[in-house]
Amino acid sequence: MALLLWLGSQLSSIWSNISILGVFLTVFALLLDFMKRRKKWSRYPPGPASLPFLGTMFSVDFHNPHRSFSQLQKKFGNIFSLQNCWTNLVVLNGYKTVKEALVHKSEDFADRPPFPIYEHIGYGENSEGIVVARYGHVWKELRRFALSTLRNFGMGKKSLEEHVVEEAGFLCSEIMSEEGKSFDIQVLLKNAVCNMICHIVFGDRFDYGDETFKKLLQLFQNSLDEETGFLPQLLNVVPILVRIPGVPQKAFQAQKELMDFIDVAIEKHRKTWDPAYTRDITDVFLKEMEKGKAAEENGFHYNNLRLVTLDLFTAGSETTSTTIHWALLYMLLHPEIQSKVQEEIDRVIGRERPPAMTDQASMPYTNAVIHEVQRCGDVVPLGIPHRTYRDTELQGFFIPKGTTVIINLSSVLKDETVWEKPNEFYPEHFLDAKGQFVKPEAFLPFSAGRRACLGEQLARMELFLVFTTLLQKFTFVVPEDQPRPRVDSHFALTNSPHPYLLRALPR
Ligand code: HEM
Repeated sequence: MALLLWLGSQLSSIWSNISILGVFLTVFALLLDFMKRRKKWSRYPPGPASLPFLGTMFSVDFHNPHRSFSQLQKKFGNIFSLQNCWTNLVVLNGYKTVKEALVHKSEDFADRPPFPIYEHIGYGENSEGIVVARYGHVWKELRRFALSTLRNFGMGKKSLEEHVVEEAGFLCSEIMSEEGKSFDIQVLLKNAVCNMICHIVFGDRFDYGDETFKKLLQLFQNSLDEETGFLPQLLNVVPILVRIPGVPQKAFQAQKELMDFIDVAIEKHRKTWDPAYTRDITDVFLKEMEKGKAAEENGFHYNNLRLVTLDLFTAGSETTSTTIHWALLYMLLHPEIQSKVQEEIDRVIGRERPPAMTDQASMPYTNAVIHEVQRCGDVVPLGIPHRTYRDTELQGFFIPKGTTVIINLSSVLKDETVWEKPNEFYPEHFLDAKGQFVKPEAFLPFSAGRRACLGEQLARMELFLVFTTLLQKFTFVVPEDQPRPRVDSHFALTNSPHPYLLRALPR
């Protein structure tokens, strides 16, 4: 009995020690969390209440962040703050605010935050590609390289423009083979645009039915889906979780497979490389790499070749094909606008000759329609996160160095103080009283400043040439047995239309 009593008292003392330790650890963790989340600056932008450990993560629907931001903007104004666990974020809204940050204080906002979720595919110190690279010397070198190579793209015998026109022709043949029946055009658009990037990067294209090509396109979609939602946001701000063995492979399987695909393609390319003959951007990069140590210090090494290639595919494919997908959806919903575009095409280009970029200046209405598609489609609603490069001020608020900054491009493209009918499809936003094309400054689908999209020129060429080729050859209608397509979007880093069917009637 005495032994039992003694055992009981020992257990209760251990238990009370554990409880004291538990209380101590909890208080310590809460204190640490409080210190980490505390904002020590006056004039820091306001925001929703921050909860222990998760911060304000429950204030945002990560499957529809731009909608959450729109509500928070109404409550807190054009500049508000959030906290993903212990990471401080500031969200910039509306044309005036975004312009001041990206154009007038361009360098202050030119950095990018770290993205630990990409480490497992090779991103890291000195290997950052372009899109998520920290602002600095190597990023500048690689960006300059990509811009100038795209600009001088005359590799092989044909110009880039000729290749885009040729691919638009292949696309039309595929559409023709549907014989006016109802079908989903999304995959064909992805095929066509991805082929344009394949051509630039690997000097080659795929046939639309090719099994590898189908798998590649599926991987693009899956990897975008993997990067959307609460989990990737959490993994980005609590990097220790993403470093647990097996986690990245499980959470980002498609991303890894996509990288494997690119690795195989680059290896194949390297084996067939002839320095005397430049086929594509990969060859130009390989040539730079040959220049030795100085080139390596400027970022021209093998790992960056893989990452720049992935950047061009991920940044350049989905964005452009989704915009064309929106364009056709708006043509289905507004047949009178479609007819006006076709009238202009018939008048300026005719029915036979392929469109050329030189036609654009004589086609203000078509140009206005394409711009309005980009404004309404709002394909990259939140851009790519920025980070402050130094302490800075914006409209009286203080934003410290190292703060992640989200540029709400959607709030610029739909800014009620700028656009006459922000939530309607209204090409007149881009036409003056005489019917001439005008571009309001708040048209920022490619963002602005130092980190603005480097593929803008290519994208605009693709949009103009593909859209005019399609409307020159076909009239797009909603099939009789189908509902009117939805105009709301599905968000997975990009805003894309919900699936819809159409009929393409040859003209
Ligand atoms: C309609 C098509 C496109 C849209 C709407 C679009 C939009 C954007 C946006 C909003 C950004 C983020 C800018 C920022 O951080 O402030 C961006 C960055 C970028 N885009 Fe595009 N883009 C398109 C097509 C392309 C194409 C065709 C390419 C290349 C082949 C491309 C390559 C890039 C790259 C490399 C960046 C990162 C720039 C940097 O960080 O310095 N984009 N794009």
